[in-house]
Amino acid sequence: MINLILFGPPGVGKGTQSQILIEHFNLAYLATGDILRNSIANQTPLGIEAQKFMDRGELVPDKIVTGMIERRMNMFSDKNGIILDGFPRTIPQANSLDTMLKSRNDKLTAVMALVVPYDELVVRLLNRGKTSGRPDDAKMETIKNRIKIYHDKTEPLTRYYSEQDLFFAINGVGKVEEITHRLIENIESLLI
Ligand code: AP5
Repeated sequence: MINLILFGPPGVGKGTQSQILIEHFNLAYLATGDILRNSIANQTPLGIEAQKFMDRGELVPDKIVTGMIERRMNMFSDKNGIILDGFPRTIPQANSLDTMLKSRNDKLTAVMALVVPYDELVVRLLNRGKTSGRPDDAKMETIKNRIKIYHDKTEPLTRYYSEQDLFFAINGVGKVEEITHRLIENIESLLI
């Protein structure tokens, strides 16, 4: 199985690259942000609860997000593995993921971290905000808060996964297809 985490700050290109990699490697795709936005659009109780946090650029509580992933993990038996985009984002979420994978007799292949300078992240998100309708892309203040929360709460996972030799940093600047090429080269080198 190929179980990947696409990692990095808001706007780094996790979603864009995931869409290409799932086709290339025949993987399932779980993106917590997409699942949460879908729940908001459908006004489910979970969506109504999550919206308060998301609109401010805050993290949704671990318990809500972990439950969401747990419920979906077993839905993809016909695939070669999974790409997780936006999960885990905290150490408790990473611990829960370890438990989930262990209970399936499975493990992580790698954490592929895209790296893009701060200013470019802001430009990408503000540009997307012009058309995306995402409230968290609309204001500079919210974008800055999302990036700060990434540094405070999510970046510590860099060490967590480096200590397990699972962490790989990939330059996320350039054309989309160039970045895909870098990712595929790295992933394939791990499968040999
Ligand atoms: P989420 O939906 O995960 O958003 P994010 O991490 O902020 O990531 P983005 O979707 O903004 O960026 P991305 O890295 O996927 O980049 P993309 O490919 O879209 O989370 C949203 C919220 O949900 C969180 O703030 C939180 O509230 C909640 N949440 C989600 N998961 C959670 C969790 N586990 N725990 C708690 N809360 C959680 O690209 C961005 C833009 O750049 C696009 O317009 C794209 O076209 C463009 N672009 C991509 N690649 C390039 C390139 N190479 N050059 C130029 N532009 C590019």
